Amino acid sequence: MTATTSLIREMTEADLDAVRAIEEAAYGTDAWTRRALEDELINGFSSYIVVEAPDGRVAGFAGIWFMRDQVHLVTIAVDPPYRRLGLAARMLLNCLEQARDAEMPSVVLEVRESNVSAQALYERFGFRRLGRLRKYYKDDGEDALVMETPSLEDPAQRRLIEELADRYR
Ligand SMILES: CC(C)(COP(=O)(O)OP(=O)(O)OC[C@H]1O[C@@H](n2cnc3c(N)ncnc32)[C@H](O)[C@@H]1OP(=O)(O)O)[C@@H](O)C(=O)NCCC(=O)NCCS
Repeated sequence: MTATTSLIREMTEADLDAVRAIEEAAYGTDAWTRRALEDELINGFSSYIVVEAPDGRVAGFAGIWFMRDQVHLVTIAVDPPYRRLGLAARMLLNCLEQARDAEMPSVVLEVRESNVSAQALYERFGFRRLGRLRKYYKDDGEDALVMETPSLEDPAQRRLIEELADRYR
């Protein structure tokens, strides 16, 4: 499978069992409950997408929140057997496009300091470290790094996203 043979679409309630399983594989005891995911589908300021593998299986999902003056990437995860195929990259491209279409200036997120894979993904997409939230994660007291894109209208950032879209679509 290549990233380009996968399909990105809006997440629906019918996806929640598959999404829960991906959550659990990705975050273990820290995973969101089904109820929390249901709430995300109806909260009115979020947008959730899934990526389907060619066999129709849901292989990953991502969610953003439209805040007053910024988009927040709340979650992104890919099922372990489908990693390093460009699926997170495709979902991130979609999230950045949604933010730009809504004329939001930038996208911000938090990531565990130890999560170097996710940081590598975000850096590839132009995110830069903005700061640190000390003891942000309640389960083990780990710090979060806060990362933000440059302005989505910045010409260099736009060029980067176009190059990444050529590569991953
Ligand atoms: C982080 C995560 C979403 C990446 O998903 P993925 O589909 O494997 O990522 P992609 O294949 O789209 O990777 C795109 C690029 O990101 C970078 N990247 C992704 N995973 C990486 C890793 N493990 N190590 C180094 N770089 C990585 C690479 O630059 C990669 O491009 P390349 O494969 O062409 O070199 C996935 O590892 C995951 O679900 N992790 C658990 C959940 C999680 O940590 N989510 C983020 C919470 S903040």
